[in-house]
Amino acid sequence: MKLLSVVGARPNFMKIAPVARVLARYPEQFDHVLVHTGQHYDANMSQVFFDELDLPRPAINLEVGSGSHAQQTAQIMQRFEPIVLQHRPDWILVPGDVNSTVACSLVAAKLGVKIAHVEAGLRSFDRAMPEEINRVVTDHLSDVLFTSEPSGAVNLAREGIDPARIHFVGNTMIDTLVHLLPKAASRWETLQRQHQIDRYVLVTLHRPANVDDDARLRALMALLQRLAATIQVVFPVHPRTRARLNQVGSDRAAHPAPLLLEPLSYLDFTALESHAALVLTDSGGVQEETTWLGVPCVTVRANTERPVTVDEGTNVLFSGAIDALEPVIHAQLARPRGEHRVPAYWDGRAAERIVAVLQQLAHAGR
Ligand code: UD1
Ligand code: UDP
Repeated sequence: MKLLSVVGARPNFMKIAPVARVLARYPEQFDHVLVHTGQHYDANMSQVFFDELDLPRPAINLEVGSGSHAQQTAQIMQRFEPIVLQHRPDWILVPGDVNSTVACSLVAAKLGVKIAHVEAGLRSFDRAMPEEINRVVTDHLSDVLFTSEPSGAVNLAREGIDPARIHFVGNTMIDTLVHLLPKAASRWETLQRQHQIDRYVLVTLHRPANVDDDARLRALMALLQRLAATIQVVFPVHPRTRARLNQVGSDRAAHPAPLLLEPLSYLDFTALESHAALVLTDSGGVQEETTWLGVPCVTVRANTERPVTVDEGTNVLFSGAIDALEPVIHAQLARPRGEHRVPAYWDGRAAERIVAVLQQLAHAGR
């Protein structure tokens, strides 16, 4: 089976790495080609993950870079089409919900190449999120849909997708966490010493709904400033958010101030995530990782496409005015940490299940 996998943005690397590792065990069965669209390109948003995740170098980098949604999606399509024509894969494998996911799915579908979607079926039911549009379109173009949590199959069934094409395999981002947590743990002492941190809130924010609006971004930064007076705040800043902060200009920080860092490598971020008193985020993947780690998480969003993190995990959604967020954070910090549940199939073996399905498809001559 000739298989072409697509990565482009930061979370894609964690989702594909374990699949690439399992595929590499069967070189006589799978010819696996990795394509990077170049949607993310800074060293700390791309290269560092190839260094740390045991992910092979991509055979091809389309180097599309940034742009408006239409520009970026169109560029990826234009540059991906000749790659598919040249390599003639049997299947393409697309993870997640970013523009690279939907762009490459559209190209493959039009060329009659079958599509397998890793992390299918997630729905926020909020079409104001660009990712929701990407998810819906990708799922409806896909021939095989690998779901990461039970809500996936429910959502896909509601949309009329044949259950025979849906496989509940679990979460490949958690595979990466299971695989690399011991290595990440060895980074902790250095990080703790370097940043003089002890009990802290770890923050990630990059959703357009939070950072693209001037007033909301200023309110969030003011909240972090107030929070820093009571607990250390560590905030590795996503490049979208950094660009927006440069635009709105930040007030001269009082002391103590939040610790603003560059985006972190996977191992460093995971070390900080697993030791955090609480994580404040709007990331999709971070909601899942905190659930697996049992670390309290407050997600600054009105909805989540990952309901298992709220129903079974440590995640709490916050959708009010930012002024009302601080008491919610303190309430979560005060909650005793007990036993925590790990969602079904978040066991480090999702990629093995994916590859087993691909082997069945190959045997069936598909
Ligand atoms: C993208 C995904 C989002 C995902 C996030 C993960 C889409 C629609 N959005 O959002 O779902 O959660 O990645 O991090 O696909 N930039 C840099 N250097 C980089 C990459 C980006 O400076 O290496 C800056 C540029 O100013 C760029 C902006 O970040 O315009 C946004 O990048 P883009 O890839 O369009 O969207 P993200 O916000 O990163
Ligand atoms: N992450 C990282 N460094 C950081 C912040 C996050 O390696 O500074 C990792 C995090 O552990 C998770 C992934 O990036 O595996 C989540 O990606 P992101 O938040 O960019 O995208 P989303 O999941 O929201 O699509």
